[in-house]
Amino acid sequence: MKISFSSPALPEQGVLVVGVLEDRKLTASAKQLDQRMKGGVVRAMEVSRFRGKKNQSLSMVAPGDGGLDRLLLVGLGKAGDIDALRMQALGGQIYAALGNQGHKAATVVVDALDGCSTAPAELAAELALGAQLRSYRFDKYMTREKDEDKPSLQTLTIGCDGVGEARKLYGPRENVADGVFFTRNLVSEPANVIYPESLAAEAKALTDLGVKVEVLGEAKMKKLGMGSLLAVGHGSDRESQLVVMQWNGAAKPDDKGVKGKKKKKGTAKEDGPLAFVGKGVTFDTGGISIKPSAGMEDMKWDMAGSAVVIGLMKALAGRKAKVNAVGVVGLVENMPSGRAQRPGDVVTSMSGQTIEVINTDAEGRLVLADALWYCKERFKPRFMVDLATLTGAIIICLGNEKAGLFSNDDELAKRLATAGDAVAESLWRMPLGEEYDKMIKSEIADMKNTGERGAGSTTAAQFLQRFVGDTPWAHLDIAGVAWSRKDRETGPKGGTGFGVPLLDRLVADHYEGK
Ligand code: BES
Ligand code: MN
Ligand code: ZN
Repeated sequence: MKISFSSPALPEQGVLVVGVLEDRKLTASAKQLDQRMKGGVVRAMEVSRFRGKKNQSLSMVAPGDGGLDRLLLVGLGKAGDIDALRMQALGGQIYAALGNQGHKAATVVVDALDGCSTAPAELAAELALGAQLRSYRFDKYMTREKDEDKPSLQTLTIGCDGVGEARKLYGPRENVADGVFFTRNLVSEPANVIYPESLAAEAKALTDLGVKVEVLGEAKMKKLGMGSLLAVGHGSDRESQLVVMQWNGAAKPDDKGVKGKKKKKGTAKEDGPLAFVGKGVTFDTGGISIKPSAGMEDMKWDMAGSAVVIGLMKALAGRKAKVNAVGVVGLVENMPSGRAQRPGDVVTSMSGQTIEVINTDAEGRLVLADALWYCKERFKPRFMVDLATLTGAIIICLGNEKAGLFSNDDELAKRLATAGDAVAESLWRMPLGEEYDKMIKSEIADMKNTGERGAGSTTAAQFLQRFVGDTPWAHLDIAGVAWSRKDRETGPKGGTGFGVPLLDRLVADHYEGK
């Protein structure tokens, strides 16, 4: 869907959306419309339950002589409660109401509001982002869908004061939406289309945006000693891949414009890039510890962590973020076969630590062990954040509402949680500790890949922590939030892209141009 911005003047034709505050208090544009309709707006409210509360709306056909086709009143709630997230939700709500009603275009007027501290241009940009995110659809395999069943809305025009400013503010938000869409596409694709090599090829396409992309195949990974990652892909006919993406957008220390301020010489780590590491299991059968067949199709999205890292790199490069960031994703398919690893096998990771594989379905941590170690050794990053659909146990803990956050660094954890709250991608901090680390002691090797029944998400995180050294690190277990069975305010059911807005926000708020 195309988004455009215009002056707040009411259009003469088409579909028009105006806001109404709580207790049926008309905004400036609603007042104007009511006058044009000779009191029709107020009358329509009075004969309905619409009171202007948030999430309420009232759709009506415009009277014949006004030129307009359809009117949509949307409830804004209290002016003092309106913020960025409220506007995103409103944008999503407007798209949901108008996206497939047969109209090709619609105009929303965003008014300046007494009692709301945010300028109309910013409110408009946030509404635009919400509408854009909500308009996503994965329909490439629907070959017989009739045109009349497809979404109709192609252009959403947002009228507001400060059009130039609104456009400028929307620019980077659109880049984030592009990243989210890219992630959702990858997550939605079936596993016969997206497998390690084809996913690596998708990442390679970021080269066009100025991202440096390297792809390591099995021979290279073997040389590096990545016995843990490679063991997971061993049973698959598809070749495992490790993809390394680098976006170098930070101003060089010697760049002019830093106003002679000499950057103080820090440790390698302080100067190092931000690192994002993703689990990319393109299909998780469980391997020899095979999963039950009911619901196994969900395991096509067991590569969501990697898709978020790729989508994030796209967003950062798209908006030319002033930061150095690397993305490392381990891509494997977990299959049972005559070549597959067995329960009880002992594998050696790149770090030299040995692992007893108790359960071949606890494969994500085996992939991340080598990806994290490689990333830390090669880039000496300022921090590492990994994302993974790692455990069913995190869904037992947090449902589909929040992702689990595990970290060895309180400042990083706090920044992540705050960024999450700012973009409505909520995180909940979970514990780590020696007492949990003990649970993955092995009788035969340095560790085993599963713990006991309890604290399954924490023992998985404990396993990962053994591969990060003293690098500030956070692990996001996104098993419950990568995919949604219900439509959401800012997206349809299916792949969510959870993590792209959050990490983009983390970067923007703390690490850009600094
Ligand atoms: N990919 C799964 C976790 C998962 C489950 C993601 C449901 C999304 C939805 C992971 O590889 C897995 O199988 N984990 C096991 C670990 C267990 C064997 C210790 C699990 O959670 O059951
Ligand atoms: Mn598994
Ligand atoms: Zn998995």
